[in-house]
Amino acid sequence: MQYILSTGEFPTVSIRQDPDRMEILDGKDKRSISMAAELLEGGGIVVFPTETVYGLGAVAHNPYAVAKIFEVKRRPHFDPLIVHLDGCDRLTEYASDIPSDAKRLMKRFWPGPLTMILKKRPSIPDIVTAGLSTVGIRVPSHPVALELLRVLRKPIAAPSANPFGYMSPTRVRHVTKTFADRVPLVLDGGDSAYGIESTIISFRQGGVFVHRHGAVSVEELSEHVRIIEDGRAADICESPGELPWHYAPMKPLKLVNGPQDATQGESSYLAFRKPSSEVNARHVRVLSESGDLREAAANFFSFLIDLDRDDVNIIYAEKLPETGIGRAVMERLRKASRKHAC
Ligand code: TXA
Ligand code: MG
Repeated sequence: MQYILSTGEFPTVSIRQDPDRMEILDGKDKRSISMAAELLEGGGIVVFPTETVYGLGAVAHNPYAVAKIFEVKRRPHFDPLIVHLDGCDRLTEYASDIPSDAKRLMKRFWPGPLTMILKKRPSIPDIVTAGLSTVGIRVPSHPVALELLRVLRKPIAAPSANPFGYMSPTRVRHVTKTFADRVPLVLDGGDSAYGIESTIISFRQGGVFVHRHGAVSVEELSEHVRIIEDGRAADICESPGELPWHYAPMKPLKLVNGPQDATQGESSYLAFRKPSSEVNARHVRVLSESGDLREAAANFFSFLIDLDRDDVNIIYAEKLPETGIGRAVMERLRKASRKHAC
């Protein structure tokens, strides 16, 4: 398939988006980075690794390229994208009125899995931010993502590289399975270290508001800023993209306290730690034998994708302790469990 683009900002170029030739390249190889940067520069889309999950990127300044992301993901246009930078040097070209809390957090958590919602500058096209006056920005810490941003010398708009509403990819095989015929290039950066998306925050008068719990925990943030706790957990949709259900497998998911609650139908079972009693399910995965929350988060999407199989009609998932990164995992499990409930 050929895409001919004329963006106004970019010269007219021809990009090959050939289904049979999806390339999976080693992200550690400098030539792969150059190829990916060239493709992006020409208005193409590329899957690249981050320390949280894999992202599907386009040059943020190029609205036509960004439109392809929405098309490929079947993502509604009211759901804004995160803009990725290689550092703070050019931040003020994209955002203005940076609060002092934001500066403090940038020093501590960038590069890293923290997205800050800031006032947007006109250099970021409206399609990226779904017409909002704010933009979500983060500096990823994955070396392949950073190198790509450095070589490209432009910001990359990127959501997680999954079909809209489905679970985020933490392994290259997740991406190749879903986007094989729609994305020309994947940079392989190994398994995602955190396995959970970035934490998303915004800045209010009284402190910092958490829109999405993620890889940086509330406890870590609280060491540096005041967190506005509102008890909303995952129930209120503040971001346009924060739907009541999300991150969902195809099969219905039910939260349980243990194997004793998992009684109906042909099932898959996602245990938090080594189960104390026998599990009566077709497929069982244990997030962390020892009950380590970071290990559990790193395995979470991958195991859930694995359990979302044709030969079961329900997935049971054990509740996790809601501390540290466990809170982010539970937020996703709750949202996943709502898909078939509402
Ligand atoms: O870890 C991550 O954040 C990954 C990697 C690839 O960076 N990205 C990611 O993007 O999870 P995505 O699009 O799957 O989720 C971004 C969320 C969406 O729910 C969106 O609504 C919210 O961020 N968001 C983006 N910009 C926003 C804004 N200006 N205001 C409010 N919410 C925003
Ligand atoms: Mg996503």
